[in-house]
Amino acid sequence: MKIISNIAEFKEHIAQVKQNGLTIGFVPTMGALHAGHQSLVEKARIENEYCVVSIFVNPTQFNNITDLAKYPRTLEADTQLLEETGCDLIFAPESKDIYSDNEISQTFDFDFKGLDKVMEGQFRPGHFNGVVQIVSKLFSLVQPDKSYFGEKDFQQLAIIHLMVKELNLNIEIIDCPIVREASGLAMSSRNERLSPEQRIIAANISKVLFESRNFVPEKLPKETIDWVKAEIKLIDGLEVEYFEIANSINLKTAKSWSEPTVGCIAVFCGEVRLIDNIRYKQISVE
Ligand code: PAJ
Repeated sequence: MKIISNIAEFKEHIAQVKQNGLTIGFVPTMGALHAGHQSLVEKARIENEYCVVSIFVNPTQFNNITDLAKYPRTLEADTQLLEETGCDLIFAPESKDIYSDNEISQTFDFDFKGLDKVMEGQFRPGHFNGVVQIVSKLFSLVQPDKSYFGEKDFQQLAIIHLMVKELNLNIEIIDCPIVREASGLAMSSRNERLSPEQRIIAANISKVLFESRNFVPEKLPKETIDWVKAEIKLIDGLEVEYFEIANSINLKTAKSWSEPTVGCIAVFCGEVRLIDNIRYKQISVE
């Protein structure tokens, strides 16, 4: 496994891989890798001849400076995990090499068709602009055939699909299911910041989401939203930022279960902001 941080060297290496005619599978990450990331890398390795993972804590997608400062950076452990998982190349650039000063302060010109205005976008203004900015940059450096993203970040995945379509990129986006801890807690790099007690408390988020599936089809999405929020409010140590049941394609508020629906939640467990989501059964109407 090779690790490259220098952009010129990386470009040269990718040119060689392309010249050798190998298909490239790419997993963009911000490091602090866990079994969720690992599942993406495994898939990329199996489905392609060459597997590239990027590790870059992208400053332009953080709207909260403390969150950026506290984001775990564990390159050594990440390298070991990727060595075990079987990746060919780690790209770990530095911010100064990726962005010019102008790019850091400017917003990226992209029409999100409203997908950036709801849920995460509403509470993290500018976040998705930074995501599209870095992912499009990484795509042009890596030139992958396929790129792997987790459903854990459901809205991000919807936006990446839109980006590939709008920018006419010849890259197949592969959706990968959420990997959870035994407790049901969705794996996340931010879980590292939870105390052992908080980890137990945070497991209630997925528990409530799973229970809410029983509301289909008798109750309306709106009633389900109210119930989920009320249930989580009862738990000491958790505070819901939002919970929405949205159409899983256009992310607009779902009116009924006859649409494909996803319930997306953001919850504060102490200072740590966690996200999760769940798919509901689609009910066909005669
Ligand atoms: P990061 O949070 O490191 O996640 C990298 C990829 O791993 C994303 O596609 C994310 O959805 C996926 N992932 C994280 N936890 C997962 C889990 N429990 N199960 C399945 N997949 C999981 O998402 C980002 O980084 C950044 O926004 C990035 C796309 C790299 C752009 O900077």
